[in-house]
Amino acid sequence: MGRVVIINHPLIEHKMAIIRNKDTDTKTFRENINEIGSLVTYEITRDLATKPVEVQTPIAKTICQVLAKDVVIVPILRAGLGMVDGIQNVIPTAKIGHIGLYRDETTLRPIEYYIKLPTDVSKATILVVDPMLATGGSSIVAIDNIKERGGKDIRFVGIVGCPEGIKALSEAHPDVDIYLVKVDDRLNEVGYIVPGLGDCGDRLFGTK
Ligand code: PRP
Ligand code: URA
Repeated sequence: MGRVVIINHPLIEHKMAIIRNKDTDTKTFRENINEIGSLVTYEITRDLATKPVEVQTPIAKTICQVLAKDVVIVPILRAGLGMVDGIQNVIPTAKIGHIGLYRDETTLRPIEYYIKLPTDVSKATILVVDPMLATGGSSIVAIDNIKERGGKDIRFVGIVGCPEGIKALSEAHPDVDIYLVKVDDRLNEVGYIVPGLGDCGDRLFGTK
């Protein structure tokens, strides 16, 4: 079974209060989602492998460490896009794939409309990014797709999850570690996380 890692940090707590607040405007919401993306990246990459390289300083040669594998960020559209800049600020060499999914409002099942990944994902560490882990349907289908295209070393990076989504994702993909900031109480009858932060995509892009 993959690990479920909850990321605790006072700066992230402070930003959670901002993004949960229904009166936060679109610009501030987007900025804080991105900033949380940067802060969580520090934790989720703590165990990435490095390899030695020889570097010539102005004074002498020395051995330094660089990332051993490529990192690929795969946001689930739309809400995952909100964290990409923040993550890429911390890993500027990361490549970016995209997976477009939306939930059918009645069945809550994810509908796929776009997928484009870098050509060779089989050797990369892949960060599947979506702020919300609700039923788990979107992240499960996204990771199914990435595995079909050769992805092996996959981590899920979210902000707010709930027990239902964590259970579904970890049962469907037991090899995938799940990183979240908060595990909220439950899903409501229309598939929103309670207390959550509402519809993340709409709040990021001002569409409602
Ligand atoms: C939201 C959210 C996640 C998904 C999570 O997307 O951004 O992708 O729901 O729910 P799940 O775990 O139950 O699948 P939505 O369908 O609202 O699309 P959008 O991001 O384009 O608004
Ligand atoms: N997607 C969202 O944006 N918010 C939720 O609470 C659940 C799914």
